[in-house]
Amino acid sequence: MTNQYRAQTSHSAEYFGDTRDYWWNLDFLGLIAVRLAFAQIGSVLDVGCGVGHWGQLLARVLPPDTRVHGVDRDPHWVEQATTRAAACRLDHRCRYSVSTAERLPFADASFDLVTCQTLLIHVADPAAVIAEMARVTRPGGLVLAAEPNNMSSALVLNSVSSRLPPDEILAGARLQLLCERGKASLGEGNNSIGDLIPGLFAAGGLADVRVYLNDKTNPLIPPYDTAEQRAMLEECSDMKSRDFWIWSRNDTHRFFLAGGGREDEFDRLWASVTEHGDELAKAIADHSYSGSGASIQYIVAGRRE
Ligand SMILES: C[S@@+](CC[C@H](N)C(=O)[O-])C[C@H]1O[C@@H](n2cnc3c(N)ncnc32)[C@H](O)[C@@H]1O
Repeated sequence: MTNQYRAQTSHSAEYFGDTRDYWWNLDFLGLIAVRLAFAQIGSVLDVGCGVGHWGQLLARVLPPDTRVHGVDRDPHWVEQATTRAAACRLDHRCRYSVSTAERLPFADASFDLVTCQTLLIHVADPAAVIAEMARVTRPGGLVLAAEPNNMSSALVLNSVSSRLPPDEILAGARLQLLCERGKASLGEGNNSIGDLIPGLFAAGGLADVRVYLNDKTNPLIPPYDTAEQRAMLEECSDMKSRDFWIWSRNDTHRFFLAGGGREDEFDRLWASVTEHGDELAKAIADHSYSGSGASIQYIVAGRRE
């Protein structure tokens, strides 16, 4: 099953498929664990945990007795995260409950590590969430955010897009940027907030702010015969069959207008990005498609004083 959650209406369901298991190299996270002295961490809070991918992955590079508590505002995801932890034999270490990130139901200084992955890209006020995460971190403890710059994907080319006219590449990037701006202006979060997190951490009083880049890409190289590549292709073809780009057509339209795009431009831009998807599908079918699959995903860490 590529994405058992995708038909569900809860937040981010489109992005909880098998491909999410291939976002990180475990040895890279092991290196981060050494650099940030995870050996001293006994308690973790994973904020906006979804179905638990991030906290359950971190559990693998944390000391074996470290407990992970995940919170999400959606009770459905809390239930699914609990089920997933049991399936991964992590139920003795991971537990889940409902909470919004803006108001965490924990006393000050409750956890050694407070973390999130792709949560801050969805919140109206990331500085307020970072402040709340810092509040529940013990002095000397760590706040750690894994958040992307998603705009960069518009200019990472592949064997098909590298042949497009420059104006078409830039039109796709402009559509994406207007949508990102619109989404943020509607209070639904800035999809490229990763770039700003080091500054937000420092402004929020966190010390010793360190910034790393995920060293994993998700390349597609013929004959696409690894489990990771098969999962990516299945996800692409499934999204395409449902007319889904980065967002649904409705959300893209809503974000585009909120970002200052003109109504009379939308149909042409949507057709251009979705027709590009048709060319990709053809190139995959005849094995002429290849790409590095690079993206910008930061890990930003800061210490609570
Ligand atoms: C893109 S998913 C990330 C899930 C998980 N961190 C991961 O990386 O697999 C974003 C999650 O944040 C949750 N979320 C969004 N806004 C939230 C908020 N203000 N408070 C708590 N959870 C929130 C959503 O319900 C969703 O599960």
